[in-house]
Amino acid sequence: MHTLDCCGGLNNVDFSEMDVTFMKDVLNHINLHDSSFFVAVIAIIFNPFFWNVVARWEHRTRGLTRLFGSPYVACYCLGFVIILLNVYRSHSMTVAMKAQARWDMLERTDVFCAGVALMVFGTVLVVSSFLALGFIGTFLGDYFGILMDERVTGFPFNITENPMYWGSTANYLGLALIGASPIGLVLTGLVAVVYSVAIRFEGPFTEQIYEERSHRSKRE
Ligand SMILES: *[C@@H]1O[C@H](CO)[C@@H](O)[C@H](O)[C@H]1NC(C)=O
Repeated sequence: MHTLDCCGGLNNVDFSEMDVTFMKDVLNHINLHDSSFFVAVIAIIFNPFFWNVVARWEHRTRGLTRLFGSPYVACYCLGFVIILLNVYRSHSMTVAMKAQARWDMLERTDVFCAGVALMVFGTVLVVSSFLALGFIGTFLGDYFGILMDERVTGFPFNITENPMYWGSTANYLGLALIGASPIGLVLTGLVAVVYSVAIRFEGPFTEQIYEERSHRSKRE
């Protein structure tokens, strides 16, 4: 019996069942040889790789700043490219989801509601972290030498250190649940893995940039 008790119905899900069997079930309901799946995988992996390589190159050489004549213009341009890449990633994930079958096990009101809730939560995280950081702060301004005056610790950074990444992951998970899409779940899992790697790679580097500044200001 499907409950109409929206979202509260999730309490009835027995999480102990959602382990290995669930993973196997997901894999039985998808086609990994589909070209749209392959395109989405490439987009998911390529994006953080691209902005980390470009931003570190900029930090090392100031190549983009010289090219555009100003670190601000350079950062805005890179930000714009990153936005386009992320729009393309979302598009490719939607195409991959549409190309493959829905999964009847996910065709439930409570799953749908959980999906909507995740998308609302994810959007709140993404939008609020953009508002807290601004465009430059969101799009790797510190790599361009445009440092924030101090670390942002207010909402949503008091919930998670990387609200942009986890908010965006929550959005994709919500999309997959709303679409009852097993391939969407697999792609969301990949987004989470790729972002975890990116965070491990970016976190120490950003800290190092700020440490260099504090050393400099101590000497002055
Ligand atoms: C985070 O900050 C917001 C706004 O300042 C506050 O309402 C919320 O309770 C805080 N959350 C946590 C987990 O500290």
